[in-house]
Amino acid sequence: MGILSLITGKPGASGFGSGSTAEQVTEDICAAGLTVVVTGGSSGIGLETSRVFALRGAHVIIAARNTEAASEAKKRIMKIHPVARIDVLKLDLSSLKSVRAFADQFNAMNLPLNILINNAGVMFCPFQLSEDEVEMQFATNHLGHFLLTNLLLDNMKTTAKSTGIEGRIVNLSSVAHLHTYPKGILFDQLNDKKIYNDKMAYGQSKLANILHAKELSRRLKEEGANITVNCVHPGLIMTNLMRHSFALMKAIQLVTYLFWKNVPQGAATTCYVGLNPQLKGVTGKYFADCNEEKTSAHAKSDVLAKQLWEFSEELIRSVK
Ligand SMILES: NC(=O)c1ccc[n+]([C@@H]2O[C@H](COP(=O)([O-])OP(=O)(O)OC[C@H]3O[C@@H](n4cnc5c(N)ncnc54)[C@H](OP(=O)(O)O)[C@@H]3O)[C@@H](O)[C@H]2O)c1
Ligand SMILES: *[C@@H]1O[C@H](CO)[C@@H](O)[C@H](O)[C@H]1NC(C)=O
Ligand SMILES: *[C@@H]1O[C@H](CO)[C@@H](O)[C@H](O)[C@H]1NC(C)=O
Repeated sequence: MGILSLITGKPGASGFGSGSTAEQVTEDICAAGLTVVVTGGSSGIGLETSRVFALRGAHVIIAARNTEAASEAKKRIMKIHPVARIDVLKLDLSSLKSVRAFADQFNAMNLPLNILINNAGVMFCPFQLSEDEVEMQFATNHLGHFLLTNLLLDNMKTTAKSTGIEGRIVNLSSVAHLHTYPKGILFDQLNDKKIYNDKMAYGQSKLANILHAKELSRRLKEEGANITVNCVHPGLIMTNLMRHSFALMKAIQLVTYLFWKNVPQGAATTCYVGLNPQLKGVTGKYFADCNEEKTSAHAKSDVLAKQLWEFSEELIRSVK
């Protein structure tokens, strides 16, 4: 999809485009009986995604670090849609301990898991190490989700097998994956404050999301698991994500306002890839404006994808 269709909202091959909303791309789709986990579901794109999944009948688990905000969000959805099934569970993705506690708690609920939306994220924060001593954007956007996905995968496999319904994993990446460090991922200098660049570190973490989805997709295909893994770029949407760069993003928005979307449009690609039957069997792809999109050279690299997988496993083992 070109720049022109982004501005005009002209639909692409899928029948949807930049102007489509999350409700439109899931119209007439019944999600009753499906369980979905949405990370960072208490605000922005994640909240709208949770609302629309609930509207379509899914049982939504909002995984949030701020459970108060998430409970507020749940209340707001239930007010308009009283039959919605929504639970709030605590999850801080920057802490591997919290990710493990979340997975234990979720698995103890004995629910199936059909869909996992890896949505939570931070952007452009000043250099900071997580409690596990990993650079914060990599820790939150990639490593926490890496562990989370791995810990929920058995449940997803069992669910897909016993129900015959395809499981889906959707990763929120970004067009920002194009703007990373020249080497792609700084395996050896991840925590080097001297070379830290807040924009490139965000791009690096979003590249990691794509590489991870790619490698997992390959592994699941090999195993014959009926689970697809895809990545999306939601578009440009003014949300809390801009908290570390509000003035800059407002200035950019001023001159590029034609490219920006509202939140219902911002959640459309996530909901389309998570729920629309058109995408049955489609895996390892990257979507923007509800249509498949090209990725960067780094994001296409099988070698880098494999290297990142092994690096992430090693990192997780080392903090145990
Ligand atoms: N908005 C855009 O233009 C844009 C463009 C490209 C990609 N994206 C991606 O879209 C996703 C959603 O972003 P958004 O725009 O909807 O931003 P948002 O409103 O800030 O939502 C992000 C969510 O992630 C949560 N979160 C942050 N750190 C967390 C942690 N350590 N543990 C658990 N949850 C955490 C936030 O929780 P708190 O409320 O507690 O902070 C919030 O609920 C992100 O992955 C982002 O990279 C957005
Ligand atoms: C994205 O893709 C893989 C496969 O779903 C997952 O394991 C990884 O943790 C995800 N990362 C994020 C946050 O997008
Ligand atoms: C995989 O999921 C799809 C879509 O739900 C379904 O049509 C298909 O029969 C499933 N395949 C297997 C092997 O269970």
